[in-house]
Amino acid sequence: NSGELKVPTNTDRVISRHIYGHFAEHLGRSIYGGFYVGEDNTKIPNTRGVRNDVVAALKTLKIPNLRWPGGCFADTYHWKHGIGPKEERPTIVNAWWGGVTEDNSFGTHDFLNMCELLETEPYLAGNMATGLVQELADWVQYVNFAGESPMSNLRRENGRDEPWNVKYWGIGNEAWGCGGNMTAEYYANEYRKYATFVSDWTNSGGLFRIASGANSADYHWTEVLMKNIPKNLIEGVALHHYAVIDWDKKGPSTTFTEQQYFTTMQRALFMDELINKHTAIMDQYDPEKKIALVVDEWGGWYEVEPGTNPGFLYQQNTMRDAMIAGTTLNIFNNHSDRVRMANLAQTINVLQAVILTDEEKMLLTPTYHVMEMYNVHQDASWLPLNIKSQDYTMGNEKLPAVSGSASRDKNGLTHISLVNIDSKKAQDVTINIDGAKYKNITGRALTSKKLQDYNSFDNPNNIKPENFKGARLRGNNLTVKLPPFSVVVLELK
Ligand code: AHR
Repeated sequence: NSGELKVPTNTDRVISRHIYGHFAEHLGRSIYGGFYVGEDNTKIPNTRGVRNDVVAALKTLKIPNLRWPGGCFADTYHWKHGIGPKEERPTIVNAWWGGVTEDNSFGTHDFLNMCELLETEPYLAGNMATGLVQELADWVQYVNFAGESPMSNLRRENGRDEPWNVKYWGIGNEAWGCGGNMTAEYYANEYRKYATFVSDWTNSGGLFRIASGANSADYHWTEVLMKNIPKNLIEGVALHHYAVIDWDKKGPSTTFTEQQYFTTMQRALFMDELINKHTAIMDQYDPEKKIALVVDEWGGWYEVEPGTNPGFLYQQNTMRDAMIAGTTLNIFNNHSDRVRMANLAQTINVLQAVILTDEEKMLLTPTYHVMEMYNVHQDASWLPLNIKSQDYTMGNEKLPAVSGSASRDKNGLTHISLVNIDSKKAQDVTINIDGAKYKNITGRALTSKKLQDYNSFDNPNNIKPENFKGARLRGNNLTVKLPPFSVVVLELK
């Protein structure tokens, strides 16, 4: 494997930290038991009901934004049910996720105050399928307006004087499916109406409105949105893509075969083609790249853990998930001119989670560790790294074994993240560095004995990053020996 890293003195392209965003839906044990345990009747240490262990772990991760309350749930959610005294809030049925009763004890104040604790930016997903324009406009006024108004006064009555100034707003979710089964043309018209009234009450530099985007390779959807929505009404177009083997036969999360691993990686790497093609469409209508592509749902999706509620989407997280995370984040970094925000699905106890909880216990998954190792790229200057990779083969099919991305941070440190997805072979990579002389190199690696390994509540530190000694620097030549199925992040200075 060979590579070329270019280190120009000036680079104007930044890897937005928002690429490293997260997603918390009212789904299974994501909110209740995951983020939130309530203030009463719990021995779990918390701050206003939010778990302290989770806050500490997510602050270390440096999560830049958090999307809430859905997903599909968003288009059934009426925010006024989640404000005011908790005992007076109505209960509803969570129709999409297990048909469980939702008591609305975690609502707008709970979420936005939690974002302050986490030092992260909220991304509110608005209801446009079962909610009227007025309801969404009211929500914006409630959370963002500093002056006197019906909604800001209601906020004050509920104990919050200062507005939260929420910048990121989603207008509907998966409008082609759970968000109303709309056509692209119909959704684009509806979007125009909602986006008109989702306006900047604070004059604080404008809201960032994100249109419900395409389902994977539905290029028609992106084309219609870009053509039919005026540029002054939109800041981001979403895209959802999951690494799923087959929607009817997703396969287990831990006892998967190598063929299932290979297929998962095929689906994950397809993200690169998807972004190229959606970007090419966006470039036709927005050559200056003003509108961001927001991949606000991505990750691996398997069968639920045996014995758990199928509607709760609880799955374990192995080295396969570390491979999905590392390769996908490399893809996003390398498309950071257009992809300026993304949200892993989901943060806690749902799909490709970074944290799993069991009552008072909490563990960090391999995906957590990859995102933590990669957070050095947040808001750093992107550096072009080209890698010519050997193949990882399965029968007649092949995938590039090695992927990478690189950046230089504000302190002048260069970081290179490399992933070898080959399940059996180590990969030697030689990278020629053009434009900089480095004296020192250090690194960390995430790997394990078996691809199927994971962190359990009995053995929570089974997989964790270790110091990496497999990189050598001689003049302009960097050589790295990547173990099988490993993620390596190098620091050069
Ligand atoms: O992340 C789980 C679900 O997947 C979301 O609610 C929905 O948007 C997507 O289909």
